[in-house]
Amino acid sequence: MWDSVADSWAMHALFVDNRHRPASARMLQRVDPRPGDRVLELASGPGGLGLEAATLVVPDGEVVLSDVAPQMVAVEEARARSMRRDNVRAMVLDLEEIAQPDGSFEVVLCRDGLQFALDPHRAAAEIARVLHPGGRVAVAVWGPRHLNPWLGVLFDVLTAQLGMPVPPPGVPGPFSLGDGDRLDGVLRSAGLEAVRVVEQPLPLHVSSFDEWWAMTSALAGPLASVLSSLPDDVQHGLRAAAYEAVGPYMSMNGIDLPGVALIADGRKPR
Ligand SMILES: C[S@@+](CC[C@H](N)C(=O)[O-])C[C@H]1O[C@@H](n2cnc3c(N)ncnc32)[C@H](O)[C@@H]1O
Repeated sequence: MWDSVADSWAMHALFVDNRHRPASARMLQRVDPRPGDRVLELASGPGGLGLEAATLVVPDGEVVLSDVAPQMVAVEEARARSMRRDNVRAMVLDLEEIAQPDGSFEVVLCRDGLQFALDPHRAAAEIARVLHPGGRVAVAVWGPRHLNPWLGVLFDVLTAQLGMPVPPPGVPGPFSLGDGDRLDGVLRSAGLEAVRVVEQPLPLHVSSFDEWWAMTSALAGPLASVLSSLPDDVQHGLRAAAYEAVGPYMSMNGIDLPGVALIADGRKPR
């Protein structure tokens, strides 16, 4: 699913990184990567956050970008090369089964990825395992769906038009860790300490409906192939319903859709 949208993520990488800038800054401030640290970014996609961390761990620190989708790893590898980040490596890793030795990283980062784990408790246990004692982790996930109309309206429209819940029951979607208490519990259950969860507004500004539709549907990994396989008349109906749904957020300046992430951080006990 994610392999098929890797090209779209490569194309929109700068836009995504700019939008997430306040979350990334907060995450990096919480984990405070230092020269010499080894940093692991999980579910990196195009790797914007890890590439930023790489500038903080020079001269002898290293960043490992990783993703479960090989095409995403190819994108992050190419991006690291083009930015001449010589202390960055990229590899295929599943965040629920991190094929790395115990205690091998001082910092773990995961932006917009942990919520896709089938078993987030297992993912958190894996994060704790690969952290060095005293190591730091920061995670960003989307908050509740009702605070995230930038994507929630698309899901609502799809649910109404297709007559079935999107995402389907039991499938971990973007909002599956949107409850702060649950996210806190997931990290604590892995034995992490000093866990904090805060809300981070991440609004989305686009210049037009077409821009929002094209970008959102191209990046929505699990949804992109469903959307593009629908007959033309159904797609037309979806676009019309979506246009109406984003109406309240339109102005002369384009469309401003609210979004809220949750940022959690914690530490492995020494
Ligand atoms: C919404 S994208 C976010 C990409 C990037 N972290 C960012 O913020 O720009 C989610 C990413 O999670 C990856 N992913 C999903 N499930 C994963 C898993 N089990 N292990 C590792 N990566 C996963 C996808 O391949 C995709 O690249």
